[in-house]
Amino acid sequence: MATQDELKQAAARAAAHKVQSGMVVGLGTGSTAAFAVSALAERMQTEGLKLIGVPTSVRTAEQARSLGIPLATLEEQPHLDMAIDGADEIEIGSLNLIKGAGGALLREKLVEASAAELIIIADASKKVTQLGTRFALPVEVVRFGWKATFARVEALGCTPVLRLDEKGDPYLTDEQHYILDCQFGPMADPAKLADQLKGTVGVVEHGLFIGMAKEAIIALQDGIETLVP
Ligand code: 5RP
Repeated sequence: MATQDELKQAAARAAAHKVQSGMVVGLGTGSTAAFAVSALAERMQTEGLKLIGVPTSVRTAEQARSLGIPLATLEEQPHLDMAIDGADEIEIGSLNLIKGAGGALLREKLVEASAAELIIIADASKKVTQLGTRFALPVEVVRFGWKATFARVEALGCTPVLRLDEKGDPYLTDEQHYILDCQFGPMADPAKLADQLKGTVGVVEHGLFIGMAKEAIIALQDGIETLVP
């Protein structure tokens, strides 16, 4: 039986094989995306694949740089051919997503909104029939006045928790914001919630990725499953 890491790696490899030479590729963040970055570096070495990566976090930039993947910023490469990333929940049917458990949701959304194609990679544990079933929704907020923002977000019908780092201090994103992990429960209308959060003063971004994924590559014990919206 394959381990969860082996499944993540299988999905990552399948996505990496979709990349063609000369592409500009958004590099996601998280343990599954890290396998994709490694698989791309391997193809560069073994097949001479050429690509430019646009990383979605400092962490991913460091990994890609250490593997010799040429990088560009979103300012330098504003039009991406493809982005490959993991997710925390993938809604079967719509392919709407919850992302951000790894704290990179803002840069991920910026990079992936600029990609012609967003490919999501995961093991089967990430599939849900309704978003909000398993994960709290990460909501990135500015530090200034964060308690007032916390109250506004709470009034939308959730229980927010300020994310802490391993030292017990507030977790800081790459853009130096805080994250509220918001337990909304199963979401009947995630698109409406996304709009409400975007309209909330102090909220910078949220982890609902609505209508963005073009394909999800899911690794199962008996092979790869490809989902489309
Ligand atoms: C980071 C993310 C990740 O893609 C998501 O948390 C999945 O991570 P993993 O592959 O480690 O389960 O959204 O902000």
